[in-house]
Amino acid sequence: MELGDVAVVTGAAGDIGAAICRRLAADGATVWALDRRAGQAASIQVDVTDSGAVDAAFARIEEREGRIDALVNAAGGPGGARHGLDEVSDQDWHAVTALNLDGVFHCTRAAVRAMKRAGGGSIVNISSGAGRTYSRTGVQAYAAAKAGVIGFTRQVARELGPAGIRVNCVAPGLIWAAPTRIEWERMSEAARERHLEGVALGRVGEPDDIAGPVAFFLSDDARYVTGQTISVDGGAVMLG
Ligand SMILES: NC(=O)c1ccc[n+]([C@@H]2O[C@H](COP(=O)([O-])OP(=O)(O)OC[C@H]3O[C@@H](n4cnc5c(N)ncnc54)[C@H](O)[C@@H]3O)[C@@H](O)[C@H]2O)c1
Repeated sequence: MELGDVAVVTGAAGDIGAAICRRLAADGATVWALDRRAGQAASIQVDVTDSGAVDAAFARIEEREGRIDALVNAAGGPGGARHGLDEVSDQDWHAVTALNLDGVFHCTRAAVRAMKRAGGGSIVNISSGAGRTYSRTGVQAYAAAKAGVIGFTRQVARELGPAGIRVNCVAPGLIWAAPTRIEWERMSEAARERHLEGVALGRVGEPDDIAGPVAFFLSDDARYVTGQTISVDGGAVMLG
């Protein structure tokens, strides 16, 4: 992220999104914070599953700033429903894929239109360890959508390279955030220990642990890096 760049962050009222906003602002960017929830952090309230509302929000930002240089797609989450596959309703499935996959598509499409007009840009998608292996939550649609985000990252990176737009992806492991605290409470002491044993660095991550790698991907230091997914999980998943 370079001084004066205009960055849009979705899911900005959440723990990871807010940490990313703080980091990009500290690096000198003008940050537009998007979230469905109202909150201190949110500069525009928008539901990423609503493509018309997303287009309007990005048009407003481009009109105000004259350009959009960076996008971080952090809005997401597994939702509250937990069922065995044979009990999953269409509604539950679509709600989770709409947020975690369609939302990324809507925001990326809107940002890319502006980035092409600006002559380039950089995008980071937030996937999950769930998209590289499986989800601890057991939510099938979440694992499928987060794996979809990794495939989408590769495909659009290939397409948009010639337009000077880089697209990369961060796959967090377990990070302290509001949904994580609920999940942690549900886990037995033995399950917590098992989890920490599977993490080489032996701790749950902090939102700021995610913000650094995101800032790297957006920065000029990563100017020759595109289509990549990096696990930021303390060494839980080691794919090379
Ligand atoms: N915390 C973890 O352990 C963890 C692990 C892997 C991946 N992730 C991913 O990191 C991202 C951030 O999650 P977090 O842990 O900070 O959770 P969070 O719940 O604190 O933040 C998610 C944010 O997304 C917003 N959001 C939800 N639906 C929306 C919609 N339709 N439109 C706009 N905004 C919407 C929420 O209001 C919330 O502010 C998510 O994509 C999540 O899947 C988190």
